[in-house]
Amino acid sequence: MRAFLGIRLPAGTREAIVSAIERARGLHAPVAWTAPENLHTTLIFLGDILPERVALVERSMRVVANGIGPFSLTAEGGGAFPGTRNPRIFWVGFLEPLELVRQLQQNMGNALSGAGFPREDRPFHPHITVGRTRGALPPAWGERFVQALSGKRFGVVSVPFFTLYESRLGPGGAVYTPLCDFRLEGSDKRETREEKEP
Ligand code: 2AM
Repeated sequence: MRAFLGIRLPAGTREAIVSAIERARGLHAPVAWTAPENLHTTLIFLGDILPERVALVERSMRVVANGIGPFSLTAEGGGAFPGTRNPRIFWVGFLEPLELVRQLQQNMGNALSGAGFPREDRPFHPHITVGRTRGALPPAWGERFVQALSGKRFGVVSVPFFTLYESRLGPGGAVYTPLCDFRLEGSDKRETREEKEP
């Protein structure tokens, strides 16, 4: 089965994104826009895994989730991969600081690699994919997309847990099914230290 680990987004953030890209969607450019219910942030793409390995993923992710506390991310602005001049993926981004989500993703990668899963070789850029190019775009489309989203806030995303999803690809698009949530139960070290101070 095809699987990935990611962050679920609140309905308010998904709605704000959909309304910000409504105009771009109406232009009928060759872009496959992400279905509103599919908007998410991928932490780690596992690809095709054997169903019997799911329990191993869950065990490793539970350990990781016990070590990191809940955090939040602010969704703002947009961009394109690999760049605005040759866009293939259109995305909404997050404001710095991103240390906690980076730490979480790194710990997840370390745990999965320890459990025998291959490491992802692409660097981690937390984002929400909103569309994928499916053909030649009119000139300056990427720049216009980024400008249209520039400075726009899509809300604060609380991350009390992350999720293992199954992804089924079909003619009507991808269907992502949440299989398991991993609640972030680690305590913030600063709070622990302050508690101990007289
Ligand atoms: P993306 O948002 O960065 O495009 C489910 O398919 C998710 O897994 C997608 O949102 C995508 O993340 C990620 N994904 C799909 N195929 C991938 C691949 N070959 N390598 C890395 N991530 C992939």
